[in-house]
Amino acid sequence: MVDKPIPGAVLGIESSCDETAAAVLAPDGRVLAEAVLSQQEHAAFGGVVPEIAARAHLAHLPGLVAAVMQRSGTDFAALGGVAATSGPGLIGGLIVGAGLAKGVAIAHHLPFIAVNHLEAHALTARLPGVVSGGVAFPYLLLLVSGGHCQCVSVEGVGTYARLGGTIDDAVGEAFDKVGKLLGLGWPGGPAVERLAARGDPQRFALPRPLFGRPGCDFSFSGLKTAVAQLVVSYPPGALPGQDAADIAASFQAAVAAVMADRAGRAMDLFAAQHGPRTLVVAGGVAANGAIRVALTAACAARGFAFVAPPLRLCGDNAVMVAWTGIERLRLGLTDPLGHAPRPRWPLDEMAA
Ligand code: KG4
Ligand code: ZN
Repeated sequence: MVDKPIPGAVLGIESSCDETAAAVLAPDGRVLAEAVLSQQEHAAFGGVVPEIAARAHLAHLPGLVAAVMQRSGTDFAALGGVAATSGPGLIGGLIVGAGLAKGVAIAHHLPFIAVNHLEAHALTARLPGVVSGGVAFPYLLLLVSGGHCQCVSVEGVGTYARLGGTIDDAVGEAFDKVGKLLGLGWPGGPAVERLAARGDPQRFALPRPLFGRPGCDFSFSGLKTAVAQLVVSYPPGALPGQDAADIAASFQAAVAAVMADRAGRAMDLFAAQHGPRTLVVAGGVAANGAIRVALTAACAARGFAFVAPPLRLCGDNAVMVAWTGIERLRLGLTDPLGHAPRPRWPLDEMAA
């Protein structure tokens, strides 16, 4: 595979879950314009409603794309390519985003890149703005979001080896469920972190699933159940505010300890093959301060550099999609307009 110059900026579109996002990046990865619209339509339901998400993407995406194109100062005809998340995710949203991207590609005779959302999270650390020049291959990725929780050896564009992952819930899902149990807004992660800030992390001894076990798989359902049992041990509606904060802090401390332990095991597996290099954390949960602190310490103990992209690039966004488009275009990797969006699309099926 050869490095090909890209003739123009790349438009990226993200619509796999409940963020409607568009971005335009220069061929060198500079962000010319970006926008993320977090759909508020789901708050009343305590979770993402797929049909509502698809309709909201349809309502918002055309205007969002027009706005970022205008702000970037780029004409559609001058683009070097159009990239859209084409899986994994909710099929309705994927069809909306990929369909719009294909329409632009057809109208302006542009290459289309069907982006794997997990690959987009994985390659975010290579944006030249994240660390100077971007993180070089190979590196270890800890992908932690509402739907995903896995350790991946990132060896090149399209070359990923999954070292371990969750055997039940994703870590963001556990945060969201604990948020719900504590009567916090949705999504639960940021709300649990805010509440935990005024709680005592040592008040409740909660389980730390798989801590110290070989391998780097994760499990969160037992921890979530323990929190549920703790909450129902209070009379309905009578959980004191300080106790709720202490539960949030104890839960977050248990998660952070487990993450550092599991990531540590993954670093040992990775280092056996490549030596100590860099641990990159990605996905919405990477925004969590306590988890970042725990991972920083685990990296320092093993001689790994720790890279956490800026918060706005941790959650779902279109900068990562456009950047993945650039990485793939450079290698001449484009997709046919007949590419069908894939609700399920494991990372290790990405090899070109
Ligand atoms: O990557 P993302 O935006 O969407 C996908 O799931 O793909 O991640 C969203 C998840 C949600 O579960 C949310 O509760 C969690 O990331 N999250 C957090 C924090 N911010 C977002 N979890 C813990 N602490 C946070 N500060
Ligand atoms: Zn995501």
